[in-house]
Amino acid sequence: MTQDILIEPVSDTVANTSLAAKKVFIKTYGCQMNVYDSGRMSDALGQEGYTQTDNVEDADLVLLNTCHIREKAAEKVYSALGRLREMKKERQAQGREFTIGVAGCVAQAEGEEITRREPAVDVVVGPQTYHRLPQALKRVRNGERVVDTDYAVEDKFEHLPQAPKPKLVIRQVTAFLTVQEGCDKFCTFCVVPYTRGSEVSRPVEQIVAEAENLVSNGVRELTLLGQNVNAWRAKGPGGKTWGLGELLYRLAEIPGLARLRYTTSHPRDMDDRLIEAHRDLRMLMPYLHLPVQSGSDRILKAMNRRHKASEYVALIERIREMRPDIALSGDFIVGFPGETDADFEATMELVRTVGYAQAYSFKYSTRPGTPGADLPDHVAEEVKTERLARLQELLLQQQKQFAEACVGKEIDLLLEKPGRNAGQLIGRSPWLQSVNVDAKTSQIGDIIRVRITSTGSNSLFAEMAES
Ligand code: 5AD
Ligand code: SF4
Repeated sequence: MTQDILIEPVSDTVANTSLAAKKVFIKTYGCQMNVYDSGRMSDALGQEGYTQTDNVEDADLVLLNTCHIREKAAEKVYSALGRLREMKKERQAQGREFTIGVAGCVAQAEGEEITRREPAVDVVVGPQTYHRLPQALKRVRNGERVVDTDYAVEDKFEHLPQAPKPKLVIRQVTAFLTVQEGCDKFCTFCVVPYTRGSEVSRPVEQIVAEAENLVSNGVRELTLLGQNVNAWRAKGPGGKTWGLGELLYRLAEIPGLARLRYTTSHPRDMDDRLIEAHRDLRMLMPYLHLPVQSGSDRILKAMNRRHKASEYVALIERIREMRPDIALSGDFIVGFPGETDADFEATMELVRTVGYAQAYSFKYSTRPGTPGADLPDHVAEEVKTERLARLQELLLQQQKQFAEACVGKEIDLLLEKPGRNAGQLIGRSPWLQSVNVDAKTSQIGDIIRVRITSTGSNSLFAEMAES
């Protein structure tokens, strides 16, 4: 969730294909929701005649789609902006245009402050206002500097262009679809309720239409996104309120769609219907990212997570009863203010009890404006470092065990893209692992039966199964 993702050009489709078409370079930091937003910004700019480039040297416009979740993530943006300022100077000396934009959660949290700290920035748009990017750029061309982070009263989703039919050499087999945004949970460490605002769910018809459009463009696997995706609620046909479980049953009816996933969830919103969907829908992949953050009830309370460690473990047991092959993933924070050795040991114990296939773990990072920042007893950096190392060792060991237990198994593999070697493709296992297998490019998008033969450092190897 924290890796930097450099967005590849999604499409070379533009309304205005003159030779002088402007180029945009988008750098995406942070979570999958930012990846989705970068795609939509690219679509909106495509309608204005921009093409996307993966070479910053070619760009007329550089957009940083930023993350504010931890201090390090936010600081990265300012160092990138320092480098862009130098590029802008060189370009201006050559009489060439170079526009710098900041989007995403740092933009939302810091607004005007960004242009004060880095005057080379021309435009700042928040996660709720990026649909107005084309208008903002017009104002920039007229010599203005634009900071547009006011929450839109209107629903931004209604103003986003549908992704154009991609003219891709390689077909896009998996896609993200944002169904929910924002958070009302107010965990005391987290900036999301302040940067992304309160929970908003997209209407059923909008989601179904976007899903159908993606599937008609060749997508076979959809990952529904939301900061609190399982808090999604909307009116279904007939006026009954639907939760995420109901939505999954509906999406599972789309012809041609083969796989569904969703992320990220809060334990308190795992309702019965959603758990039943895991039992009933074979196309809902047996993989669940369900962050717990800590295994200590005292710390969970201070974090305002509003559940106990034992309730989380009981929930996992119920889900496993319904879907025995489910693999778990989680997020953990070490060194939250007041965390003692005993609290940390409780986290280690919870990890041993649950057994994770995959996990993300972080040192607590103080975020200004969140209640956690004002708590007493902040934990020393060395203690956080030592706890994180111990936790990560345990999680890595579990991840390896999970991968090794896959060796010899026959699984369904969705073939996604070319592998490193000619004649090889990379596919996804039901548990989100990358799997290398000998197959033809024409098979991209197919689901094939393979047997896992061995594990690599970050992926698995497989051969075609005989059955
Ligand atoms: N410090 C460290 N980790 C954090 N996360 C969120 N806020 C903070 C913070 N202030 C982690 C949580 C969350 C994930 C997306 O990032 O584990 O689930
Ligand atoms: Fe942040 Fe908690 Fe909301 Fe997740 S549930 S986005 S951790 S406040």
